[in-house]
Amino acid sequence: MPLDIVIGTQWGDEGKGRVVDLLAGSADFVARYNGGDNAGHTVTVGDRIFKLHLVPSGILHPHSVAVIGNGLVVNPAVLLEELETLNNAGVDVSPDRLRLSYAAHLITPAHLALDRAQELARGKSNIGTTLRGIGPAYVSKASRQGLRMEAMLDVDTFADAIRAHIEDANRMLTGIFHVEPLDARAVANQFVDYARRLTPYIADVAAVLSDALAAGRRVLAEGAQGTLLDLDHGTYPFVTSSSPVAGGALIGLGLGIGFVERVIGVTKAFQTRVGSGPFPTELDGETALHLRGSGSQPWDEYGTTTGRPRRVGWLDLVLLRYAVRVNGLTELVVSKLDILSGLDPLFVCSAYRMDGKTIPDLPFGPGNLARFEPVYTQLPGWREDIQSARRWEDLPAAARSYILTIEEQCGVPVRLISVGPERDQIVVID
Ligand code: IMP
Repeated sequence: MPLDIVIGTQWGDEGKGRVVDLLAGSADFVARYNGGDNAGHTVTVGDRIFKLHLVPSGILHPHSVAVIGNGLVVNPAVLLEELETLNNAGVDVSPDRLRLSYAAHLITPAHLALDRAQELARGKSNIGTTLRGIGPAYVSKASRQGLRMEAMLDVDTFADAIRAHIEDANRMLTGIFHVEPLDARAVANQFVDYARRLTPYIADVAAVLSDALAAGRRVLAEGAQGTLLDLDHGTYPFVTSSSPVAGGALIGLGLGIGFVERVIGVTKAFQTRVGSGPFPTELDGETALHLRGSGSQPWDEYGTTTGRPRRVGWLDLVLLRYAVRVNGLTELVVSKLDILSGLDPLFVCSAYRMDGKTIPDLPFGPGNLARFEPVYTQLPGWREDIQSARRWEDLPAAARSYILTIEEQCGVPVRLISVGPERDQIVVID
């Protein structure tokens, strides 16, 4: 059963890319299963830094194949740009290194224009989307009007389908949102060019992966965003339009349930969020500045895709327990523990209070989070810089007790802790 799934347990940006990068070394396939170029991770190889939004980071490991599953929505312009950047950097991006599901859906300029127009129309109650056309592309898919990758295999009918799709969207753009229409013919021409370049990558990904798994090869499923942004299980309506949770990996790759081995949840040592929506443990002032950083470093809390400063707060163990349950996590990875150095005391939210009652877990999932007040447990902080720690024993007692509190309250072991931005700045726990 060699399918491992890496999942964000929070609102995205947990540091999943780092964990995937670490595990990709022993994986034959690294597969994305949800979302699109709303995701973003920075991978450092030697002295080169790659910012990838769509292509799984497995492409950077010469022996593994990168896979884009049917659960994704793909902007072909972004995909081709990333492939070109990688190619220019000497990375092999030939079709046998990247497989694109025939059933993944396309993001078009109409989806981008609709995302923007809808966010503007929402005014103050906007979702704070990444404006990458994600929601509208999944709407096309669910309303059975989407364009799948396989449509590109016949360029003549594809050009007609794109034109009809843009003309359809133009009626909404002009009629409802009063914005300029798109040039349907120009978009169709552009997409025919994309089709010519992407056709060699299109494959029956579900069959490729199932056969590989049955033959004992290892597949690493890489979730984008996080549990609390899941369309069904997140802080609805302030969510993305796909399924980042573990179940999404099976649907988004077309795999049977029996292959799953490890379900690895990644959590930051504190909480962050970009975009709107409830956040019970949110902080401002000095502590927030400490957690967020000034923005001068790539690992400071500013969005990789949007550049927006992230909202920050204390670690919420009620939500982490929820993520353990919804995903069936077998283990946890805690990232950015080093950022807590110098904060004393520390707090974690271990229950919520509502109508005078203290409750340990969410009664109806996280949709109504705004109604709850966090109940904090105070923990001792530490002053030491822990970036050079590599073993459990190297961590100060207070840092160890912080990790043990997470394990005790969530009921799953912490296997890995990241203590700095470099690849080797990790503590592996046996
Ligand atoms: P969308 O996915 O662009 O529709 O955005 C919906 C919500 O998900 C917004 O609050 C975004 O900020 C958030 N979001 C989407 N992708 C990411 C991500 O990769 N990291 C963190 N937040 C994300």
